[in-house]
Amino acid sequence: MTDELKKISKKLSKVLKKDRYDHTLGVMYTSAALAMCYGADVQKAMTAGLLHDCGKYLSSKEQIHFCEKKKITLTESELEMPALVHAKLGAYLARHEYDINDEEILNAITYHTTGRPDMTLLEKIVYIADYIEPNRKEIPGLAAIRKIVFTDIDKAVCMSAGSTVRYLKNGGKAVDPMTINTYNFYKKKEE
Ligand SMILES: [Fe+2]
Ligand SMILES: [Fe+2]
Repeated sequence: MTDELKKISKKLSKVLKKDRYDHTLGVMYTSAALAMCYGADVQKAMTAGLLHDCGKYLSSKEQIHFCEKKKITLTESELEMPALVHAKLGAYLARHEYDINDEEILNAITYHTTGRPDMTLLEKIVYIADYIEPNRKEIPGLAAIRKIVFTDIDKAVCMSAGSTVRYLKNGGKAVDPMTINTYNFYKKKEE
């Protein structure tokens, strides 16, 4: 790990719960592996993976308060689905508390939960790494995504967005429009 990554991980280990911190390291190393596979910048991928959930040190309620205080505008669906807020908040914290100015890294953090149509390679890497990192518990379809991601990352994005949409719908939960847009975009690409 570079000194910069070490500094960030030390800070994160102090504010995140143990499980969340372990997940964070899993996403960092999985992002590194994917960056190697696809020729993306490994350091950027590791930095984005390490910081992707940095907003989760606060509870959902506190995250919304923090955004109000800092004038971070939240969309209607973000207010309805507080699980989404930490992504935007995370990008803010990465910039202001962890001194990250690279827009590519900041966007990878912003879009790690919902994805978006036509993501950059780095965005796709962090989106998928979050889904497949080794600490994730086995869910149907995970093994297949873990396998295919190293040969066809777009297909892996399509599969994970699809299973997120199904999971939320089956649980009677609301689905963010951006998640649906992501799924539709990558499904069309498959056709
Ligand atoms: Fe997250
Ligand atoms: Fe995560």
